[in-house]
Amino acid sequence: MNNPTLLNKNDISKHLKTENLNISLFDSVSSTNALLKEKALLGEKEGTVIIALSQTDGRGRYNRKFYSDFGGIYLSILLKPDLNTADTTLLTAASAVAVSNAIEDLSDKKTEIKWVNDILIDGKKVCGILCEGGFCGREYFIVVGIGINVYPLKNGFDDEIKDIAGTVFDMPSKEKTAQLCARVIDNVFYEYKSLKSLEFLNTYRKKSCVLDKTVSIMSQGEVINCGKVLNIDDNCNLIVKLQNGEINALSSGEVSIMRNS
Ligand code: BTN
Repeated sequence: MNNPTLLNKNDISKHLKTENLNISLFDSVSSTNALLKEKALLGEKEGTVIIALSQTDGRGRYNRKFYSDFGGIYLSILLKPDLNTADTTLLTAASAVAVSNAIEDLSDKKTEIKWVNDILIDGKKVCGILCEGGFCGREYFIVVGIGINVYPLKNGFDDEIKDIAGTVFDMPSKEKTAQLCARVIDNVFYEYKSLKSLEFLNTYRKKSCVLDKTVSIMSQGEVINCGKVLNIDDNCNLIVKLQNGEINALSSGEVSIMRNS
């Protein structure tokens, strides 16, 4: 499929407020996260950003395939946080707030955040986030990978995801796509710089679609338990009261909201 937005780097850069970024934009790559991790291992500096308009091997959590056709924005941002404060879960949650705010600022849509890394519009996933950490020598880095379904294509989504995926905008727009991409990058840097304050958690909790809901708890695609979500703590753990009354803090895994909850 051709790229209907014909976006170039300047279209995005002219909207950016963050300085000292090193941005590359490609029509298609294998995976922006994989490429940026390679660069990070070779000592690339913080602020390097790879943006692609499609990916041939986009990956999500648990190495799942991430749908990455034209119509979306797929980007990875290289950060070099202080090792003592570096936390991929918190950065994932802060990035979810960053993307969610960007979407709401530039569209008339309301977003919800599904713990820990999904952004939904009207119950459909429009964005997934994957933060991956590593070392270049003694220097720690995190690659923040963000995939957004920006607008629908004529052929629609693949059958596998057509019932669960949505888009931010209803029609293609080069200008809106560029603005969204720039706002996402600016917002991620804003949240990254203020991560320690944990302020983003207030918004994260407000936008959470799982708080007070009964959820199935899954591990590697299998339902392993269910319970009611009581809170999201300051480490972004999901505090769940299980059916047997036990209270658990989930730090990883996935949940799905049970019907009628
Ligand atoms: C998920 O939903 O499980 C996370 C999806 C993360 C996808 C983004 S798209 C840009 C970056 N490159 C990848 O291969 N993955 C991330």
